[in-house]
Amino acid sequence: MSLEKEPPAVHAYNLIEKVLFQPTHFNRKKLQQELSGKTILITGASSGIGEQVAYMLKDLPVHLILVARREENLRYIKNEIEKAEAAVTIYKADLRIDDDLNVVVQLIRALPEGLDVVISNAGLSINRSIHQSLDRVHDFTRTMAINYFAPVKLLLALIPLLEKSQGQIVNVSTINSLLIPIPNWAAYQASKTAFDTWFRSVAIELKASCVDTTSIYLPLVKTDMIRPTAAYDRMPAMCPNHVAEIICKSLYTKRKKYRPWWLLFGQLASIVCRGGLERVMTKVNERKGDPRAGS
Ligand SMILES: NC(=O)c1ccc[n+]([C@@H]2O[C@H](COP(=O)([O-])OP(=O)(O)OC[C@H]3O[C@@H](n4cnc5c(N)ncnc54)[C@H](OP(=O)(O)O)[C@@H]3O)[C@@H](O)[C@H]2O)c1
Repeated sequence: MSLEKEPPAVHAYNLIEKVLFQPTHFNRKKLQQELSGKTILITGASSGIGEQVAYMLKDLPVHLILVARREENLRYIKNEIEKAEAAVTIYKADLRIDDDLNVVVQLIRALPEGLDVVISNAGLSINRSIHQSLDRVHDFTRTMAINYFAPVKLLLALIPLLEKSQGQIVNVSTINSLLIPIPNWAAYQASKTAFDTWFRSVAIELKASCVDTTSIYLPLVKTDMIRPTAAYDRMPAMCPNHVAEIICKSLYTKRKKYRPWWLLFGQLASIVCRGGLERVMTKVNERKGDPRAGS
């Protein structure tokens, strides 16, 4: 059977992006020393950031477990990676569905070598105004299902394995979790922030059992996730390959968090200038027209 998939697009940075997204000095040798012989679970590995992380690990003697719903994409990625060194196991699973999630957990628990790293990356974003959402409660339940409950359930089941291996969990988060909320993204921001809060709370407890935790706070990244939002075409965005370097670097530095250098200023402004920022966003939203029409 022929395996076909669009190769991930490379996004070349313009001048502003080069300033905003400083290069990552990534040491492949250190990564290899840290990860040799290890087993790494990547959720949401069928496209975007998860796919790039998997490719970045392909030359290492590791076992990659790739999970997502689009099996044909996973098969293509496995095929590409196994031309190099890593061994790959793929599981087609909708992580919002308990039966699917439990199958993944059972299969991982049965691995004789255990589990060393979880990259919690699967996610869904929705851009919709509140007036367009009045009859769409399912937008809120499905974002919570994949962005909050799925990683919580998965980690509840896998933490004992990670404690045994003194492993690491990486949460692929968003800068929005640390900033003032913006309009039209209520479902996405609330669900990502819920998991960020859960994760940071649990991280303190896990330190005692030698499980490292890393939160990666990302701005826009040029993946399928932002493609439907036309306004983002012209906005600065990171290249998924660059994000994969940041994630892979955290696997040997074990740093607690990554955030772009400018985020601290945004965090300060979110606290000090909250009223002003909310007034500006209200004006911008009003200028778009009747608020009940949505954007
Ligand atoms: N792109 C951005 O601007 C941006 C910014 C900040 C943070 N992030 C975060 O980065 C992570 C990766 O997103 P991305 O940008 O790489 O977008 P993406 O290409 O759309 O990747 C999302 C991944 O999640 C998987 N997924 C979604 N729903 C799932 C489900 N129910 N069960 C299992 N897997 C599921 C998708 O696979 P299937 O569809 O095959 O299931 C896909 O592999 C997300 O957590 C996102 O919140 C992205």
